[in-house]
Amino acid sequence: MKILLADKIPDFAISRLKSMGCEVFSRTGLTGKDLADAVAETGCEVLVVRSTKVPRPVLEAGHGLKLVIRAGSGFDTIDVAAADELGIRVCNCPGMNSVAVAELTIGLMIALDRQIVDETDDLRRGVWNKKKYSSEALGLKGRTLGIIGLGCVGQEVACRAAAFGMNVMYYDVIRRPELEKQLGVKYSRFDDLIEEADFITLHVPGGMQTRHMIGRRELALMKPTAYLVNCSRGGVVDETALAESLRCGDIAGAALDVYELEPTATDPEFKDPISHEPHLYGTHHVGASTHQAQDAVAEEMIRVIAAYRDHDEFLHCVNPEKVHVVGG
Ligand code: MLT
Repeated sequence: MKILLADKIPDFAISRLKSMGCEVFSRTGLTGKDLADAVAETGCEVLVVRSTKVPRPVLEAGHGLKLVIRAGSGFDTIDVAAADELGIRVCNCPGMNSVAVAELTIGLMIALDRQIVDETDDLRRGVWNKKKYSSEALGLKGRTLGIIGLGCVGQEVACRAAAFGMNVMYYDVIRRPELEKQLGVKYSRFDDLIEEADFITLHVPGGMQTRHMIGRRELALMKPTAYLVNCSRGGVVDETALAESLRCGDIAGAALDVYELEPTATDPEFKDPISHEPHLYGTHHVGASTHQAQDAVAEEMIRVIAAYRDHDEFLHCVNPEKVHVVGG
């Protein structure tokens, strides 16, 4: 079986695939036509991607292409509708990097409350500012965290926040009573969460359904002392509205790991204007990027490939084949 890896995956996973008898092609950093050409030229049956986008022309170029695997949980970078039309299955590796994303989320919350980035920035410029930084942090204990989206990542954030003594409320399109008990979290209506939380963290999938879920209206409803954290997908927050809210003090600050304008392999410059906002802390879409998480994702990717190769099964398929019921 021919497998094209369009992003870097750990070496052990490549060795394992080879020892399973797969022919592995590693072509990282390709986009658009170059990726389509690689898909056509290798004749791959399986395409594995992490950040690389898979638009329709890439799928159309794959004459023997049967499976696209997203080495992560989100699949908004893949044209799933086109894959569906072409009879190509798309599978992901959900839950494998949830702990890593949750750890970064908690880290960003503490960084915001303690202004760690500004403190470091001052130190690097030789400025000692104990007076300022001693008077502003409120602490996490006893404060309210609002989690939007109680999936795998949201749950990991909830139990870590509980360990910090925070009160945790959540909003999700599906209420999860069993988890409320297990994690000690309280379900809340969307607007109530926005109004009451001291920290709001987003853990929802990207795409049209969640686009600008946090916009001007929501930011205006937040407490002026509240912080927003987004380690999910860039488009979930309206960044123009966020920049305005940060500037006029509608909220105390925000931390983003994901952006509306993320660089690509061919154009790595970060051009998103949100980076210039002073009350904004930012990381480089690295929520999932710990060795532990990437190894776990790679293990799962191998499991998906083995299930397909050995049993013609598509694990974690996000576009399962539709069964047509005749006369049904
Ligand atoms: C995910 O969807 O799981 C993350 O975006 C993965 C990643 O950054 O590779």
